[in-house]
Amino acid sequence: MPAHPAGPRHAEAAAAPGPERPQHPQHGHALDRRIWPATASRGADGQLIVGGVDVRDAVAEHGSPLFLLDRDHFDDLARQYRGGYGDAHVYYAGKAFLCGTVARWVRDAGLHLDVASGGELEVALRAGFPARRILFHGNNKSMAEIERALDAGVGRIVLDSFVEIARVAAAAEQRDLIAEVMVRVTLGVEAHTHEFIATAHEDQKFGLSVGSGDALEAVRRVVNLPSLHFAGLHSHIGSQIFDAAGFEVAAHRMIQFAAQVQEQLGVGVAEVNLGGGMGIAYTAHDDPPQVGQLAQQLRAIVAEECRAAGLPRPQLAFEPGRALIGPVGITVYEVGTVKRVELDAGESRTYVSVDGGMSDNIRTALYDAQYTVTLASRVSTADPVLSRVVGKHCESGDIVVRDAWLPADLAPGDLLAVAGTGAYCRAMASNYNYLPKPAVVSVSGGTCDIVLRRETIDDLLRLDPVLGA
Ligand code: LLP
Repeated sequence: MPAHPAGPRHAEAAAAPGPERPQHPQHGHALDRRIWPATASRGADGQLIVGGVDVRDAVAEHGSPLFLLDRDHFDDLARQYRGGYGDAHVYYAGKAFLCGTVARWVRDAGLHLDVASGGELEVALRAGFPARRILFHGNNKSMAEIERALDAGVGRIVLDSFVEIARVAAAAEQRDLIAEVMVRVTLGVEAHTHEFIATAHEDQKFGLSVGSGDALEAVRRVVNLPSLHFAGLHSHIGSQIFDAAGFEVAAHRMIQFAAQVQEQLGVGVAEVNLGGGMGIAYTAHDDPPQVGQLAQQLRAIVAEECRAAGLPRPQLAFEPGRALIGPVGITVYEVGTVKRVELDAGESRTYVSVDGGMSDNIRTALYDAQYTVTLASRVSTADPVLSRVVGKHCESGDIVVRDAWLPADLAPGDLLAVAGTGAYCRAMASNYNYLPKPAVVSVSGGTCDIVLRRETIDDLLRLDPVLGA
């Protein structure tokens, strides 16, 4: 069974418990504070209100599907991360979701930024993000991307292969500058939701293996190249992690490796970046630790490992993506059709088709991700029925929420809201079946601002020389 970068693997997902049958029709109406954006509430008609904005009004203005980001919740999380991690550098992992506005939120919150492509780098630079606070990732950065990063003066380039060490060194030398680089190492630790696996062997594309000796050789090459400055070591063990144990093993192995670098190469490791992966609650089954609690555990682990290895404590860095933007975002869809399908043993399932699907949220199809969904446009006293929220694409795997208890009187025109879609939904969106991508709006204090406008069919056709003129 291949391991997924995030979420449960298929076999586990199939065995995972579905949502429990609500005890009372109004049960699904309650908003679990761990799952929904901090400012989410219900209005007099039972409608969902986020950031003081009635989602019915937001959809009337910006269309459906619609992504809403709770600005105040983001700022609060950013503050918690800055405070909780003390003097560690917190890089927001832009791959989770990036646009000009979010880049500025991150900048103004005093956080750093991790970009993973020339495109993400361009968004950040054009948004006015200070280049020194940007760290550039990627296992296959092109020469053009490397040159842009060096010319812009990014703070860190994370090197992922021997080929890249030579490429960055050559580009820096040509520019007569010294590039600040980190070496990404694999420590034989792989984390999944609720678990981690520590193995001796890594069979994946990222980083240079500590176990094989490649990582040490990479550091040796970096320190011997005059156009590179060895800024430290980087590791990322996985995503949607709840448990500090995986980080603990990673930190242990990282500091052991730092000790080896010091001993064999006579070089200190000034900075250690332990990556991202801090998990969030998508459903009531998820129970991630508090921001401050995990931060405190991680800081203590590194301090203890350094003490044991007799090394000075390096500058620490982390790269949360999902944890900063995931809980802040919801998707609102309009119900198009409702269809009851008889299952075995007299059971039935209600298929609720919405106006988006795998093009705005691929995570359910790709990772068997689980989500929480609620009726967002009104109150209902109808009995809850076992439902499946599906998209409008030509694939039976086009599922948004696999199992949910939704009111039996759900009808075309109703709005549904799915929680926890701020990360890796709009960011991984596609135009499958020529569906234009939804708008993203930021809501706060009763106002709704576009951060990405809705695509139009003309936006898509512009790329086609036959149709685009
Ligand atoms: N740093 C590095 C080097 C990463 O590769 C990633 C995520 C992060 C930080 C941020 O991880 P986070 O804190 O967001 O878990 N598309 C998948 C997630 C892929 C994560 C890729 N790397 C999903 O939808 O769950």
